[in-house]
Amino acid sequence: MAIKAPEGTRDLLPDEALFWEQFKRSATDVFGRCGYVLIDTPIMEQTELFVRGIGQATDVVSKEMFTAISGENLKTLLDGGTIKAKSRLSLRPEGTAGVVRAVVQHDLVPQGAPPVKLMYAGPMFRAERPQKGRQRQFNQIGIECLGANDSAVDAEAIVMCMRFFAEVGIPADNMRLLLNSMGCEKCRPTYREMVREYMEQHSDELCDTCMTRAEVNPLRAFDCKNEACATVMENAPKITDHLCDECREHYAQVKDLLDSAGVQYVEDASLVRGLDYYTRTVFEVQVIDGMGSQNAIGGGGRYDKLAEEVGGRATPGFGFALGYERCVLALQAAGMEFPAAQHCDLFVACVDSSARAAAFALSQACRDSGFACQMDYQQRSLKSQFKLADKLCARFVAVLGPDELAAGVANLRDMHTHEEQQVILSEIPGKLSV
Ligand code: HAM
Repeated sequence: MAIKAPEGTRDLLPDEALFWEQFKRSATDVFGRCGYVLIDTPIMEQTELFVRGIGQATDVVSKEMFTAISGENLKTLLDGGTIKAKSRLSLRPEGTAGVVRAVVQHDLVPQGAPPVKLMYAGPMFRAERPQKGRQRQFNQIGIECLGANDSAVDAEAIVMCMRFFAEVGIPADNMRLLLNSMGCEKCRPTYREMVREYMEQHSDELCDTCMTRAEVNPLRAFDCKNEACATVMENAPKITDHLCDECREHYAQVKDLLDSAGVQYVEDASLVRGLDYYTRTVFEVQVIDGMGSQNAIGGGGRYDKLAEEVGGRATPGFGFALGYERCVLALQAAGMEFPAAQHCDLFVACVDSSARAAAFALSQACRDSGFACQMDYQQRSLKSQFKLADKLCARFVAVLGPDELAAGVANLRDMHTHEEQQVILSEIPGKLSV
C-alpha cells in the first residue's frame, strides 16, 4: 500500500504553499508596522523547557508532546539505561517557550533596555486527536514582546492581531474577541483556593477529570467541555471580582485602550487558556460560524514570570499566536480560494523535433529577460502542446517549425486575443512585456 502522510499532518500543495508564503508576508507587514522583527528558533528544544515553561500539569505537556530521540539514545533507554537531561528533546508544541529561552540565552533584553519585539512563523507539534481544525503538525504565526509590563503592549498586540485577521480577509462580523485577566502571583493563589473550595462543594456534579485536576489547577475546570461542569462553573467565583489593585488597574487600562482603538471585545471571566504561564491579560479570537468546535483562530496573553521559570532574570512578556490552518478554514468558509501558483508568460511549442534546440534557446533567452517560460518535454502533438499552454495559463505561445527556423522567426500567438504574428526570435522577449 502506498505510504501516506502521518495522521494529523497535511501537505501544503503548490497553490497553498504559495498562499502560506503570502500569508506570512502579510503578517510580517502588519506586525512590522508595530516594530516586530523575525526570529527563528529550533523546532526541537529540551523537554525541560516546556515542562518548566508551559507547566507539567497542562494537557500540552503531560500528554501531547512528541519526544524526539536519537537512535543511540533510544538504544540506551531500551537497554534500561538513562539519558542526560540535555538529550531529552521534544518537538515544540508552541513557540513562546523557545522564544523566551532564546531571549534569555542571548540576553536580548539587557537590564534597562527597551523591550524586544519578535515574531515567528512555523510548524508546531501536538499529539492531539486529529479532527477538523485540529492537527498534530500545524503552523503558527506568533509574536512575543519582552521587557515591558505596560498595558499599552497588551492592547497594541491585540489591536495588531485583529488588524491582521481583517487584512487577510476574515470577516470582522464573524469574529469574536474574548478578554480576561488571570491576575498575578499576588491575587491568583487566593482566587484559585476559592475555586477549589467551590469545586469541593460541587464535587458530585463535576466530572472526574475536573476533580482530579482540582488540587493541581482548579482553573482548568472552566475549560471543561462537559456540559454539567460548564453549568456548575458558571456560578463559580469570577477572577475579575478578586483581582489585586494593580491587576485591576492594568486590566482597566487594556480595556480603555481597546475601546479607544475601536476594537470590540467580550469579557469572559471563564477564559483561562490551556498553558500555565499566563498572568494578567489573556485573550482569544474565535470564529463564530463555519468552524465547528475548533473555532479559536488565535490567542495569547501576558506572561510576566516565564523568563524566570526558564532561568532568566525577571522580564515581563506579552504575546499571541494564530493558527494558520484554522485561518484557512475561516477564509474558505468566507469563499476564499487559493490563487494559482503557476505563472507562465510564454510557452514555446515545437512543430517537430528539428525545432527543439531553438525552442530551448528561446526559452532561456526569455527567462534571462525575466519572463516565466515553459516548453514541451514529451514531444507531444502541436494540439496537445496548446492544451498544455492553456492549462498553464500561458499569456503567449511561440510556435517554432522548420519554416520559422529557416526565416529566424516564431509564430507568436496572444492567448487572450488569439492574434498571431511572426516575430524575429531575438525580438520575442520585447513582445512579452506588453
Ligand atoms: P494556543 O492557544 O495554544 O496558544 O495556540 C494558538 C493558536 O494555534 C490557536 O488559537 C489555534 O488557532 C492554533 N492551534 C493550536 N493547536 C492547534 C492544533 N492542534 N491544530 C491546529 N491549530 C492549532 C499558544 O500556542 C501560545 N504560545 C500563544 C502565545 C504566544 N501566548 C503568548 N505568546
